[in-house]
Amino acid sequence: MSKIKPSKGAPYARILGVGGYRPTRVVPNEVILETIDSSDEWIRSRSGIETRHWANDEETVAAMSIEASGKAIADAGISVEQIGAVVVSTVSHFKQTPAVATEIADKLGTDKAAAFDISAGCAGFGYGLTLAKGMVVEGSAEYVLVIGVERLSDLTDLEDRATAFLFGDGAGAVVVGPSAEPAMGPTVWGSEGDKSDTIKQTVPWTDYRDGEVAKFPAITQEGQAVFRWAVFEMAKVAQQALDAAGISSDDLDVFIPHQANERIIDSMVKTLKLPEHVMVARDVRTTGNTSAASIPLAMERLLATGEAKSGDTALVIGFGAGLVYAATVVTLP
Ligand SMILES: CC(C)(COP(=O)(O)OP(=O)(O)OC[C@H]1O[C@@H](n2cnc3c(N)ncnc32)[C@H](O)[C@@H]1OP(=O)(O)O)[C@@H](O)C(=O)NCCC(=O)NCCS
Repeated sequence: MSKIKPSKGAPYARILGVGGYRPTRVVPNEVILETIDSSDEWIRSRSGIETRHWANDEETVAAMSIEASGKAIADAGISVEQIGAVVVSTVSHFKQTPAVATEIADKLGTDKAAAFDISAGCAGFGYGLTLAKGMVVEGSAEYVLVIGVERLSDLTDLEDRATAFLFGDGAGAVVVGPSAEPAMGPTVWGSEGDKSDTIKQTVPWTDYRDGEVAKFPAITQEGQAVFRWAVFEMAKVAQQALDAAGISSDDLDVFIPHQANERIIDSMVKTLKLPEHVMVARDVRTTGNTSAASIPLAMERLLATGEAKSGDTALVIGFGAGLVYAATVVTLP
């Protein structure tokens, strides 16, 4: 018989607070047109994107995360010392070691919270949420700060017609903590590494260092292949997450898919047959694709504008480079 006593956590977990940070510089499509042959009309009609935010030198991954986290912690109504773990999802923090999560935890003033980074592309926020829920229920942290943050402008080739208009910068954060009732459904997640070539960094950093390529690495993608995969496969995953939570689309109040392209969002809404009353996040129009930050940023905006309210039932689904995905049903903070 095991001598180890069982760990004691909360019966359930929930998102208690959310916060976002958008860089001050707003970049309209006109700026993108300075480096690619396209048009405002084409970009709007093919992607839904009108503007995005680009970070300046002071708006670092850590600085944006700290701003978003401060708001999330205040929204949750806890003190920063109560945070037991900080999970940061990003693919655009260029100083690999140490994890940026440790700097964020320290600057926020947590009491020695566990802190680490994860790399799961545009599904990163959902991956982080899933880890946080596990920690709260298992008892290794009472409150977990989950941050999705990107400076994708640093990884964008402004001369690449297929991607120059897509990406933006920003940070979104949530606090996950104990709950007396279920408020986070099971996560439906996975990876399809056989499709890893469809969204990727052009070359490893070392190729650039060694002078094998002249251009700094950037994110490249096979737009159509990714589009088809997102439209067909991710609608199935979203439905599985509803089924796993034991609800139907009629029970949903809000749908917050990864903000990659408004046509993907429209298509998922149609395939899932979401009823009229479901509020659909369309933050992509003014924020672009901010990868790991996109879902918490969209969540924060819906709550801030009153389009969604605390206690609403929301389906969130992230998907992207890997390819990876994560979908779950949550109660909004
Ligand atoms: C990138 C994306 C908007 C491109 O739209 P698309 O309809 O697939 O565009 P295509 O690449 O098939 O190109 C269609 C036409 O537009 C042209 N085109 C491509 N990029 C263009 C641009 N920036 N401006 C104007 N025309 C462009 C192409 O040359 C092509 O012209 P042709 O029909 O004369 O050959 C779309 O594929 C997409 O959003 N994919 C998924 C992206 C995504 O979500 N990625 C992240 C997931 S995390």
